[in-house]
Order: sequence, then C-alpha cells, then structure tokens
Amino acid sequence: MSRRSWTQLSEDRSLYLIEWEPGSGLNFHHHGLSTALIEMISGRLVEEFQGDDRVFFLRTEDKPFIRPAGSIHRLVNYGPNTAISLHSYDPPLEMTYSQDLEIDLAR
Ligand SMILES: [Fe+2]
Repeated sequence: MSRRSWTQLSEDRSLYLIEWEPGSGLNFHHHGLSTALIEMISGRLVEEFQGDDRVFFLRTEDKPFIRPAGSIHRLVNYGPNTAISLHSYDPPLEMTYSQDLEIDLAR
C-alpha cells in the first residue's frame, strides 16, 4: 500500500508539508479560489492537468511552482524514492479533503 501523509503547519489551512510514498498520489482536484505554491523538499512528483497533455516534473532543483486558482491537476509520485513537498495556499485553502482523491498505484 502506498501512503500519502501530511502535516498542517498553519491553523488557517494555508501551509502543508506532504510526504508521498512511491506509488502514492492525489487525483484530479482544484483549490477553489486559492492560488497554490508548491516547493519540492526531496524526491520528485509528476503533475498532470485535466484536459491537457502537458506533464510537469516537480523537482527539488527547480524554483517553487505556482498554480493559479482554477487549475485542475493531479500529482503522483512514481518513485523510486519518497517525495516531500511544501504547499502554500493564498487565500487559505477551503477545499475539503476526500479519501476518493487518493491514488495508490500499489493496489
Ligand atoms: Fe493540488
């Protein structure tokens, strides 16, 4: 089983640290009215956008990634290493988390 776990670093739901085991991910979603900033701390994630063939590799050596409100994306760690990323949202995130969003490639 591939797991994704997160720590909420601020009380206002604006800052999260997320650990992505190999094979884990988060299916297509958006962030409501919030702009997202993602910075990779370790490892690498693959990002895809709904209705778009582009694929982005989120890597530690790159600058933080900004995703405007309304972007519908998904993030997957195809491995081989665990990835850790920092996510900041402005205004603070209002979306509610759903277990249905979890990707587990090991299943
Ligand atoms: Fe997202």
